[in-house]
Amino acid sequence: MKDKINVGIIGFGTVGTGTAKILLENGDVLKKRTGIDFVLKRIADLDIKRDRGIKVPEGVLTTDAASVINDPDIDVVVELMGGIRPAKDFIIQAIKNKKHVVTANKALLATEGNEIFAEARKNGVEIGFEASVAGGIPIIKVLREGLVANNIVAVYGIINGTSNYILTKMTDEKVEFSDALKEAQRLGYAESDPTFDIEGIDTAHKLTILSSLAYGIPLSYNEVYKEGITKITAQDIEFASELGYKIKLLAITKFSNGEIEMRVHPTMIPNEYLISKVDGVFNAVYVEGDAVGATMYYGRGAGDMPTGSAVVADIVDIAHCDKWQKAKGRGYVSSSYKIKKMEDIESMYYFRFSAMDQPGVLSKISGILGNYNISIASVIQKGRRLGGSVPLVVLTHTAKERDVLNAIKEIDALPVVSDKTLFIRVEGKEE
Ligand code: NDP
Ligand code: HSE
Repeated sequence: MKDKINVGIIGFGTVGTGTAKILLENGDVLKKRTGIDFVLKRIADLDIKRDRGIKVPEGVLTTDAASVINDPDIDVVVELMGGIRPAKDFIIQAIKNKKHVVTANKALLATEGNEIFAEARKNGVEIGFEASVAGGIPIIKVLREGLVANNIVAVYGIINGTSNYILTKMTDEKVEFSDALKEAQRLGYAESDPTFDIEGIDTAHKLTILSSLAYGIPLSYNEVYKEGITKITAQDIEFASELGYKIKLLAITKFSNGEIEMRVHPTMIPNEYLISKVDGVFNAVYVEGDAVGATMYYGRGAGDMPTGSAVVADIVDIAHCDKWQKAKGRGYVSSSYKIKKMEDIESMYYFRFSAMDQPGVLSKISGILGNYNISIASVIQKGRRLGGSVPLVVLTHTAKERDVLNAIKEIDALPVVSDKTLFIRVEGKEE
């Protein structure tokens, strides 16, 4: 084991700054705990003039990423610039130069990770990616190490800080969607393209990584069903609250009947569930193992220091082993697995129909639901608008997604229905 590790960072933005700060300010505690000196040898960024709020030693900053990747003294290259290219090229080159790599770049890993991990295996180096999922929560370590003895039954996660922040502001403070998003951007939580956050893409990137670890499957981003939070209105949040639920953007992966589910969508969760109390930028991941049962992990899912904490943990792990043990890595990849089609999943559902306020409408809608074996658990209709449309809210018992899609198609074609039906999947116990 080396007693000094030279670190080079590419990307001196939110996470790069947090990582540099921790390496510079907590170097003592790292040395006491590990006996290793972690030296911040170089930081590359396109802009090295901007004040980042920390004092970096002379000669560390450069605009040339190649001078990090090709420096023979650098042991670990930390990619924190984001995006696919040139980040991928930088990482592949660093691997070919026999450097370990740490990255927070879930978009890159979810979409190009199979190639990157294969290249790392070929060159005998490791890829640390703790920061890529759930910011400061060490969930990668949990799945690879802490719960290694378990068959994973299910993982449910709130793993996008920005969308959780927006939904919380809309729920608690009645803040408009766009204002909450602007605030999340100002606080450095949002991706450079915030549609990644609000359309469920970032959550799907992270879920791809979690599913891969939980079930030993290749990174399969294209197989993840994704739906974001942009269709959720203040009205739905209020109806959900009246029914005893919160709306959260949930990432779900589970193994049932020989098939793996991978889906991201807004979900109604009963108020009394622990995960529905996870608010603001906080993330939480619930993992159920066949041996351990239910476990849950909670913490800040974004931001400079929480994410920097995860990045530095990876650097320390790498320093501890000249070669990370293969058991810790993504060595196990199953050759036969089946991803469940979204139409085959089963769930309870919330429907908001835009129904004309006239006699017989409810029976028309409930008749169609009945024809598709969708059984109603409760109904809310508020207000009267004779001759106009009112929201008609229906909560169902467990139904098949395929039946739900077909029923909605028929219902939306009724002349007494004035707008497209909104539906949200519901978790919890059947009433
Ligand atoms: P930022 O945009 O704040 O920082 C990225 C930095 O990289 C910018 O300063 C950018 O410069 C610089 N950069 C871009 N291209 C190059 C290049 N070719 N060479 C050198 N520097 C370059 O992003 P974040 O810190 O927020 O995110 C970084 C990564 O971490 C992303 O993959 C993100 O998904 C991930 N992540 C972010 C979290 C967060 O809370 N922000 C949490 C977890 C993961 P310029 O601005 O001039 O373009
Ligand atoms: N944009 C991401 C989020 C950053 O809001 O969760 C952390 O991965």
